[in-house]
Amino acid sequence: MTLLRGDALSEAFDHGSTAYDRLVSASPGYHAHLRRSARRLGLPEEGRGLRVLDLGCGTGASTAALLAAAPRARITGVDASAGMLDRATAKSWPQGVDFVHLPVEELAGRLEAGSFDAVFAGYLFRNLTDPDEALDMLHGLLVPGGRLAVHEYTLGGSPVHRAVWSAVCSLIIQPAGRLTGDAGLYRHLRDSVTRFDTAPAFAQRLRRAGFADVRVLPLPGWQTGITHTFVGRTAAVPGVRA
Ligand SMILES: C[S@@+](CC[C@H](N)C(=O)[O-])C[C@H]1O[C@@H](n2cnc3c(N)ncnc32)[C@H](O)[C@@H]1O
Repeated sequence: MTLLRGDALSEAFDHGSTAYDRLVSASPGYHAHLRRSARRLGLPEEGRGLRVLDLGCGTGASTAALLAAAPRARITGVDASAGMLDRATAKSWPQGVDFVHLPVEELAGRLEAGSFDAVFAGYLFRNLTDPDEALDMLHGLLVPGGRLAVHEYTLGGSPVHRAVWSAVCSLIIQPAGRLTGDAGLYRHLRDSVTRFDTAPAFAQRLRRAGFADVRVLPLPGWQTGITHTFVGRTAAVPGVRA
């Protein structure tokens, strides 16, 4: 199957937005894992005075996780799907949380360099046509010493992890997707994971993009070896890349 990209992917998420929150809430660990990855940003003082970008915020599950980790931060959620964003904005948020409808690929021209202290991207990267370009843009959007956390399905590299992912897709994810009328979106999920970087390869991608102190952190449950948190930082000295 050809992976969904650009407008076709946004349209699939627009349609999938109706059932999205119900499906992810039925997935054991989904919200707890996002909260754990958000905490791994290590934002001090509950995020007081910090500006955090939630890239590919969807219906706001990752935004809520960031808010739990850093309730005093200003959080901007960005997403290309109007349907997903409609679900996010319909929820109740405190002051300091806002949402922008924009594809990642158009962010560079809209936001100033150094606009954010931290960036979080939950289940976004394997959807992008050019992950390297996105990382380069994010590096520029972060302040010196800024923090990045990527929470993503990235197989650990062992045949067991691949087999578990394949079984979870065949037995649970694909049937659920067919029931909600989103078979294409959930085929895309299956294939985008198997074709994307392994966890070590994605860590290398972050280092190549200039991020320092890159670490790959595991998550528990059936997602062990399948979903990881990646953390890294921009160099403390402006303009320097690791
Ligand atoms: C699997 S959802 C994850 C949503 C949320 N971060 C969460 O953890 O539940 C991926 C989101 O990324 C968005 N997305 C995919 N490609 C994008 C792009 N190029 N620019 C902006 N958003 C994108 C989709 O619209 C979708 O809402």
